[in-house]
Amino acid sequence: MTTNARRTEEEIQEFVASAELSANLQRVLVDLIELHLQGKQAHWNVVGTNFRDLHLQLDELVDFAREGSDIVAERMRALWAVPDGRTDTVAATTTLPQFPAYEQSTSEVVDLIARRTYAVVDTIRSVRDAVEAEDAASADILHGLIEGLEKQAWLIKSENRKV
Ligand SMILES: [Fe+2]
Repeated sequence: MTTNARRTEEEIQEFVASAELSANLQRVLVDLIELHLQGKQAHWNVVGTNFRDLHLQLDELVDFAREGSDIVAERMRALWAVPDGRTDTVAATTTLPQFPAYEQSTSEVVDLIARRTYAVVDTIRSVRDAVEAEDAASADILHGLIEGLEKQAWLIKSENRKV
């Protein structure tokens, strides 16, 4: 049986990320790596009221950010882009403010980490439209990250909320 629907071998295309798509995903990658590292720094050095709840909550954020960085980096590889997760690259290009050294109180850590989580969300939202225009599948990954990070920020930030 013959059909004209079959592609020829030569007609089959691989989707390769443009330099712009690669750069946008790289921006998200470094912020997720930095958030994961700052989350651990906070997890180790937080002290004060509700220590244990926040100590454990921070590991949920750490796990989400670390898993998210892996998903973004592997999406880049699937599109033949090259992720750069080296510490020098992360320190030079992340948009997150530096995390303070030494012990921090629980109420201070809540504010510090919530703000940094929203900084990553800002980065994702700022590249989202350009990513969507080129690759909806990568944009779906970004949507999941926005949803999960905003949930984490809410879970952490509620600790300091006064009503
Ligand atoms: Fe731990």
